Amino acid sequence: MRKKFKFSQVVTPLGTPPLKGEEMGKLAVYEPGEILVEDGRILEIGDKTSPAPYTEEYFGTIAIPALVDAHNHLPFGGERLREFQMKLEGHSYMEIARAGGGIRATVKATREASFDELLQVSLQRAFWIIKNGTASTEAKSGYGLNLQDEIKQLRVARALGEVLPLDVVPVFLGGHDVPPGEDKEDYLQKLINEIMPRVAQEGLSDYFDAFCEEGVYSPDEVERMFRAAKEMGFKLRLHTDEFSHTGAIPMAVDMGAVSVDHILYASAEDIKKIAGSDTVAVLMPTVSFFLRLDRYAPAREIIDGGGAVALGTDFNPGSSPALSMFFPLWLAVFKMKMSMEEALAAATLNAAHVLGLGHRVGSLEPGKKADFLVLDLKDYRQIFYYFSEPRLVAVYKEGKRVISLPRQWEGM
Ligand code: NIG
Ligand code: FE
Repeated sequence: MRKKFKFSQVVTPLGTPPLKGEEMGKLAVYEPGEILVEDGRILEIGDKTSPAPYTEEYFGTIAIPALVDAHNHLPFGGERLREFQMKLEGHSYMEIARAGGGIRATVKATREASFDELLQVSLQRAFWIIKNGTASTEAKSGYGLNLQDEIKQLRVARALGEVLPLDVVPVFLGGHDVPPGEDKEDYLQKLINEIMPRVAQEGLSDYFDAFCEEGVYSPDEVERMFRAAKEMGFKLRLHTDEFSHTGAIPMAVDMGAVSVDHILYASAEDIKKIAGSDTVAVLMPTVSFFLRLDRYAPAREIIDGGGAVALGTDFNPGSSPALSMFFPLWLAVFKMKMSMEEALAAATLNAAHVLGLGHRVGSLEPGKKADFLVLDLKDYRQIFYYFSEPRLVAVYKEGKRVISLPRQWEGM
């Protein structure tokens, strides 16, 4: 079935991701903009497409690619409100983690939840994710930290993608932490010899992810996990340098990691290393905001050095309970000194690349899924200018309107 859409302006990044350096700052702007869709895919896009009756005409609005969340811990149990309160009273993230809060508290809640309970809470979160304009997202495990509960989280992630108008990419975060009460070496052996092979065999995730930080895993321990994971065919991702400089970034880049995430404490050398590679810096400025950190990741330096940046929410119960990709977009510009164009590319095409979806979503180009947002704005720069309210009026997934809001009060 063919559908033709018309907007005042259509804006999209273009090209083969990861977009790097100056490429990140170039967007295609069609004014007016038309999108011709067939069977959920984009057939043509431009200021004028082949003649066909408009099925949907949006006067005075813009369309952009639906947002892509490159870093999201969606299927976890519980929440950490008391901890949140403690943080507001001045206790640090690592202090709370050492006192038995943090990741380990969520491991307990995630293990206690049945598959159905975990699916239920995750479905509700996913609804709000879609409602806020995200049509593709990562969903990490990492709060099970044993065979059955890691698998449970990954199956919930997969189920979400099957029932919702949302592309969900399950990511096996088996190296998130040491499980409560266990010996680190014992867990590493179990992870490498039992859990990893099962996740690979069952095809539950194409990715392996870990957390390198003082008090969690060292660069050497991560390297050990990475070697095993790579051998089993996993693509690699890494949480690193979130709270301190670890030295793991060169190792991760040399091992061909798809991304290094957080990297608030990356050194000038680390930045150079990333910039000269295909490894994407995945940045989640909502974490700095939520934890009241003074520091934000060096996005400007990475892009100026010729590297690639993608954005994510880092949706998780401890450091960023943020579901909307608009907040990272705004913070990218206001706090990480990215240009508006770079921020949009980072939250769409580069994020899609990190999830292995760069050929299917993330930009509005022929052959890609017709995943786009309709915003009650006239110019894409207004997304940032009118920060705090994206004026989202519709979300399209594969050419179908899955969310729609009125543009004005009835009777006005
Ligand atoms: O990405 N850094 C490690 N993992 C999460 C936080 C997880 C938690 O606090 O539950 C993050 O920030
Ligand atoms: Fe994370």
